[in-house]
Amino acid sequence: MSRYSYVNGRFLPHRDAHISIDDRGFLFGDAIYEVWSVRKGELLDADGHFGRLQRSLGELRIAMPVTIPALKLVIRELLRRNRVRDGLVYLQISRGAARRDHAFPPAGTLPTLVMTAKRVDFTAADARADQGIGVLSLPDQRWARCDIKTVNLLPNVLAKQAAREAGAFEAWQVDEAGKVTEGASSNAWIVTADGVLVTRPADNAILHGITRATILRIAREAGLGVEERGFTLAEAHAAREAFITSATTFVTPVVRIDDKPVGNGAPGSLATQLRQAYLGPN
Ligand code: PDD
Repeated sequence: MSRYSYVNGRFLPHRDAHISIDDRGFLFGDAIYEVWSVRKGELLDADGHFGRLQRSLGELRIAMPVTIPALKLVIRELLRRNRVRDGLVYLQISRGAARRDHAFPPAGTLPTLVMTAKRVDFTAADARADQGIGVLSLPDQRWARCDIKTVNLLPNVLAKQAAREAGAFEAWQVDEAGKVTEGASSNAWIVTADGVLVTRPADNAILHGITRATILRIAREAGLGVEERGFTLAEAHAAREAFITSATTFVTPVVRIDDKPVGNGAPGSLATQLRQAYLGPN
């Protein structure tokens, strides 16, 4: 079955989907992106991701190339053409293609909009959640606006690779004050010995995860204790549970941080319950 992608108003076979080598996303990383999971044909947390997409564009003063209702129709068609019922949608918008100059391009330069969709068999992710993952801690080397979902992911790429080489699934980045910021591609959480959920506040040092916001809401509605504050690695090592959240991992328990087990070294019950609450009945 051929795969289709979307480039600037056209659905194209994936192998024919190209952008200009003058594209500012390619030249400068002058672009933003979004990722949605698709379960049973529906985008998860759809509106949260559309809202963040508009915010990212606004922060960088990139014009939204299409309306949100039009974008929703395009995504639906992309899912249909790729026969995706369970999978992922990736969207990227750059400031467009123009002669290379660091400053913004001439007025009238059209943003580049690219979308891909792929099927995902979520059983691997489920198995990972059943086993729990290891994380590797390392210094956060990123810039001061991690709240904007830009494609400038080089520190994240290097952190994730370091984790993989250490046999860990995710990297936890640590700021200069010794507090965990977030994962290379997920938000970081612990559950204290007293059963309180702790995650860093949505400041400029982290991406304001859409899954994070939904889990906060679910936890508060369930009457769980929640604190939005930074936590240290020492706190994480002493925690009862730890987990990550993202559009692609949902809620996934962390059972090892560096060489130390978290809690009893098995996935925590709160993380497992939150995952079930997030995904709903199968
Ligand atoms: N990453 N923090 C970072 C640095 C991320 O890249 C992501 C998501 C998150 C979680 O955000 P959300 O819950 O909205 O997915 C936190 C996506 C999945 C990616 O880059 O593929």
